[in-house]
Amino acid sequence: MVNVRTVGVIGAGVMGRGVTVALRQAGYRVILVDRTEEILERSRAQLRDDVRLYAMLAPKSSVTFEELAAETVFTTELEALAEADLVVENATERWSVKQPIYERLAKICRPDVVVAVNTSAISITRLGALTGRPENVIGMHFMNPVPLKPTVEVIRAFHTSASTVDTAREFLSSMGKKSIVVNDSPGFVTNRVMMLTVNEAAYLVHEGVASAADTDRLFVECFGHTMGPLETADLIGLDTVLLSIEVLYDEFKDSKYRPCPLLTKLVDAGLHGRKSGQGFFSYQTANRG
Ligand code: NAI
Repeated sequence: MVNVRTVGVIGAGVMGRGVTVALRQAGYRVILVDRTEEILERSRAQLRDDVRLYAMLAPKSSVTFEELAAETVFTTELEALAEADLVVENATERWSVKQPIYERLAKICRPDVVVAVNTSAISITRLGALTGRPENVIGMHFMNPVPLKPTVEVIRAFHTSASTVDTAREFLSSMGKKSIVVNDSPGFVTNRVMMLTVNEAAYLVHEGVASAADTDRLFVECFGHTMGPLETADLIGLDTVLLSIEVLYDEFKDSKYRPCPLLTKLVDAGLHGRKSGQGFFSYQTANRG
């Protein structure tokens, strides 16, 4: 594998923060980029809470906030990624957000740098084409919460080279993660199924077939899932879920991916799930439902 010491992380939201913690746990230096100082300040504060939580849940691999911050550069300058040996992009799930980033990365990063796209559904092939070196671009679909999830869905795009696949797998292995490689297609394997399930569960609540709590309980108590689809949606972020299902709807032109109006309504109302304190369930009080 090419020598990776410094990793650029774009986006300091739910996933960018998770990736940052996992990278620091593995000893990498991180350059974390987001749009504004204010967002970076909020992320820094959130990271302080995140590492405390991970230290309780997985004490063996924990890092303190001081250890994390000592080798993490927080910046609004994408140009800082000129120093990165590998980049993981975790910006908002919107083509209009990701597109300019990839166009700029091609001019900023060294030509040998592997760029990993962490997206829920957007085409890796199309993003790779923006860089002029699509052979170095690969999908790295981390699961949330990143430090606690053992496996990553790796997506081979049309032009991704075999050596980029090898680098990605070795890099993930160095983070203690297994990888499962699939070919590029909207939503890949996981989210083509998962987003449809979440959307359909939202329709069940929307149509009054069952409450959100009972819908989830059926998956947990009958199927043995650790979490129902709606609580999973809250964990992902309902804004990200809606953007992802919209990508699937646009790509497949298939009405089965039509976003549930209840999902749209919750997002419009600012109820984005766990990160906003309320989604299908409330995270401010013990009272769920
Ligand atoms: P988020 O909304 O929590 O965070 C996105 C971050 O990107 C925000 O902090 C935003 O300010 C930043 N951003 C927007 N434009 C930017 C730019 N030009 N430069 C730098 N930063 C920019 O979203 P989340 O959940 O972290 O998702 C990020 C990506 O990861 C999305 O593509 C999503 O589909 C994917 N993903 C999300 C998962 C989840 O469970 N939330 C799981 C796996 C992938």
